[in-house]
Formats: sequence, structure tokens, C-alpha cells
Amino acid sequence: MIMNDVLGALKAIGEETRLRILALCARDQINVSDLTQILGQSQPRVSRHLKLMTDAGLLERFREGPFAYFRLRRDGDAAKLAEAVVHLLPQGERGLESDRRRLQALKEQREHRIANYFRENAPEWHRLRSLHIDDSKIERVLLGWLREKPARSLLDIGTGTGRILEILAPHYQRGTGIDQSHEMLSLARANLARAGVRHAEVRQGSMYALDLPDETFDVVTLHQVLHYAEDPQAVLEEAARVLQPGGRLIVVDFAPHELVHLQREHAHRHLGFSDDQIANWLIADGLLVNQPHYLPGEKLDVMVWRAERPTSVETGVLKPRTQAEIRS
Ligand SMILES: C[S@@+](CC[C@H](N)C(=O)[O-])C[C@H]1O[C@@H](n2cnc3c(N)ncnc32)[C@H](O)[C@@H]1O
Repeated sequence: MIMNDVLGALKAIGEETRLRILALCARDQINVSDLTQILGQSQPRVSRHLKLMTDAGLLERFREGPFAYFRLRRDGDAAKLAEAVVHLLPQGERGLESDRRRLQALKEQREHRIANYFRENAPEWHRLRSLHIDDSKIERVLLGWLREKPARSLLDIGTGTGRILEILAPHYQRGTGIDQSHEMLSLARANLARAGVRHAEVRQGSMYALDLPDETFDVVTLHQVLHYAEDPQAVLEEAARVLQPGGRLIVVDFAPHELVHLQREHAHRHLGFSDDQIANWLIADGLLVNQPHYLPGEKLDVMVWRAERPTSVETGVLKPRTQAEIRS
């Protein structure tokens, strides 16, 4: 790091609001609107702080649709400095603690909104789920994979009305669906009973803390769930935890898009995910990631990611793939 860069980074850190921003971005990826509410400062002011910190190499900025998000930068000398400063911040300091609590409250508000959305719209879900995409294309891909290699035990996280458990039923021996919404689960039970699926059960639970032992399932699916997650990385980590060695994780979600009205009207939290974003999270969980399947749609494109937990034999030999390898 040259002298000017060191000075620039120190100046960018050496101010109370910016230190608070640094502490918040060390925990989460945060957008300007959340930061404005937490810090109680005007948007132009917060944006100025963010620009300074980004220019100094402390934060990185990324886009989701029209929104800018910020997180601590992971590479470069300024990032090392940022990490060291975050490490030095006193645990339990009152101001920082209250920032953290405000952030937590914002997340909880959004989670309530999503829970309410599914409570209110459960009876309509069958119609709503096909509103933006042609489900049959996705289902054909999933069915193809399961037909090729059936599952002994399949877990569907965020199972909703149980559609995935229902269509894949001929290709697994024991199915489990988890969802937080009572209303969605009641419909799932009725749908599975109507379809004569007796080897699957559904229960209430959180996708962030599955009440299930490690390495239990040989297929785990997350179908159109991740874009509702406050913390998608934590959901994938939990899904990977319950995957047996050799097991497959299948994630279906939207590619990045700009349909902001889906956040307002249908409680979406994220405007889709890029291939890199999902692949990097899966790689961080120790999984081997295959090329995603890309399904273009009229308004929204869908991606289907498939990753595997290496078996114990493979572990010493195979390393998680790099991005270049995934794409080659
Ligand atoms: C878009 S629906 C998808 C349902 C189903 N996978 C499908 O494709 O029809 C998302 C589901 O995720 C569930 N969900 C949202 N947040 C959750 C959480 N924190 N824990 C468990 N389930 C959650 C919702 O209740 C809802 O049923």
C-alpha cells in the first residue's frame, strides 16, 4: 500500500458515522435505504460516506436491480485494514449495539411481511406461482435429473403447497417438506393426500435452522424460495449441512431482473441471483458446482443450479471448483 492509499483509508475510517457503517457492513450486505434508517441521517449524507469508503477500497458496491448494496471488501490492503479495525471495535459498545438492533428489527419487519404474504395468499399460490414463469419447463428439468438418479431421501425446503414433493414423488423413497407457513403447509398436506403421495411428510420449520441432523438427505431442493430470504447465504449453508456425502442440492430461482414491483406486490426480497453469487456461496459450503441450467422466460429468466457434496473418497482429490472451472 502506498503512503497516500494508507492515509486515504485511515481518513475514510476515522469518522464516527463511517466507523458505524463499517461495523454494519462487516455483518451484512446493506442498501442505502436501510443505512439511512439505521443511522438516522439523510440519504445524500449516507451516500457521501459510502462513496468515500468505497473509493478508499474499504467497501464494495454491487447492484441488485436498481438498488445499490454495500459490503466489506474482501481483497486488497485497505480491506485488511478494515477487517483489523472491525476486529478492534469493542464488543457490546452501546452505539454499535443499537445499530445492530435496528438492523435486526428491519430484517424482522421484512420477514413478517413475507410470512403475512404467504398467510394471505396461500389459497391463491397455485395461480400465483405460474404468473411469471412456465413451471412445466422447470419441472421437466428436475424430473429428468431425478429419473436418471432417484433419491432415497429428499428434502424440499420452503415446500409451500408441496408441489415439488408431489411431482418428484415417483423418484424418491422418503420425502420431507419444511415451511414456516401453517397455511401453505395445510394446503401441502391436502395436495399430497389428493395425489396419493404417502411417502412424504411436511412440517413447520425455519429454513435458517432446520431441525434435522447433519448429512441426512441425498437430495435437497430449494424451489423459488431463495428470493424471499433475508440471508440467502445462510439458507444455502443450512441446506448443505443436511446433505449427505454424494448428495445433490438443487436450487431453482430467478436470474437477475429489474421487476421492482415484485418486491412491492409479491414480497420478493431479492431481484434474482447471478450465477456467480450462487456458485460462490455453494463453493464456500464445500460443494462441487455444476453448470447452471438456464431457462429463458418472457419476463423472467430462471436458473437451476445443481451442486454436490463430495464423497469422502473424493474429498482429498477434488477441490471445490473455481469460477473459471465452472464456466469452462
Ligand atoms: C415462493 S414459495 C415457494 C413454494 C414452493 N417451493 C413452490 O415452488 O411452489 C416460498 C415458500 O418459502 C416459505 N418461506 C419463506 N420464508 C421461510 C423461512 N424463513 N423458513 C421456511 N420457509 C420459508 C414460504 O412460506 C413459502 O411457502
